[in-house]
Amino acid sequence: MQRIHFNEVVTRDGFQIEPAFVPTDDKVALIDALSQCGYAKIEVTSFTSAKAIPMLRDAEAVMGRIRRVPGVEYTVLVPNVRGAERALECRADELNLVMSTSETHNLANLRMPREKSFAGLSDVIALAAGQVPVNVSLSTSFGCPMEGDVPLDEVLRWADRFAAQGVRGLTLCDTTGMAHPAQVARMAQALRARFDALQFTFHFHNTRGMGLANLLAAVQAGIDRYDGSLGGLGGCPYAPGASGNISSEDAIHMLQAMGYDTGIDLDRLLAVARRLPQVVGHDVPGQVAKAGRITDLRPAPASVAELRGANV
Ligand code: COA
Ligand code: ZN
Repeated sequence: MQRIHFNEVVTRDGFQIEPAFVPTDDKVALIDALSQCGYAKIEVTSFTSAKAIPMLRDAEAVMGRIRRVPGVEYTVLVPNVRGAERALECRADELNLVMSTSETHNLANLRMPREKSFAGLSDVIALAAGQVPVNVSLSTSFGCPMEGDVPLDEVLRWADRFAAQGVRGLTLCDTTGMAHPAQVARMAQALRARFDALQFTFHFHNTRGMGLANLLAAVQAGIDRYDGSLGGLGGCPYAPGASGNISSEDAIHMLQAMGYDTGIDLDRLLAVARRLPQVVGHDVPGQVAKAGRITDLRPAPASVAELRGANV
């Protein structure tokens, strides 16, 4: 059975865009519950400016209080050296650096041109060397909501530059759900043909309903690591029109039904997903937590038994 690894991003991508601050206690309880579900990785929080992302201003408190389960990697999003120093102080297992492949989105999200981000992130990579592995999330890799198309060659150019710096992995982010399955397959093939040793993770948002189709296209093209967000929460506050990630439980349910090994205890995960609306105070987009698994059958109406009795 082919193994697919999941990174749960609800407490980072999900909570960064919530209208109301999720209390620290609730974040810690949620991460502790997710730690019991079989994830390869959990993106706990981000070490960004509290002015930019006020919803995650309690990053140190959350990192200090979660109960770490051996075998789960606890990663955090980092935009600059200051963020990396804070993350290392909190003993993050991995630094997930972020920049955009689109100049306009980088200016909107990180308030600097891409070259300046790259220079800062190069300093972070040097700082992390010999301490923790580094992943780089490349935002808007499948399209920018302000610039439009981001050419595959442009994405590969940034991938080359980070690969040359010795990062462990790259995450290709579809920040506002602009990817379609044929494009995803082309991206996966190009990356796999170009780099042997890099870990690739794909990160989809379901903004236009193509999230699970994109996931399947990537799986079929040999990508085995994905970000997912419980309940389908998520979005970048600095990307106009952003909406939720693919729902982790919906994605995992689909892959398990198809025979893939995700390592996830789906019943346990669905139980956590069903408590999420209470945590955030509103309904969430995820569907399997509401509908049940495809194997959860319903009783037939009494009329069926009557018809059967009458041998109709
Ligand atoms: N952690 C905490 N505070 C930070 C910080 C970090 N990593 N980086 C900068 N700051 C603080 C500075 O100390 C400064 O504080 P002050 O106003 O009290 O003096 C303030 O933030 C502005 O610093 P500056 O270096 O001028 O940054 P900026 O305003 O140009 O913002 C970023 C740059 C990258 C820090 C900011 O845009 C950011 O955090 N963006 C994150 C966006 C994000 O996470 N998006 C969603 C995920 S894709
Ligand atoms: Zn995202």
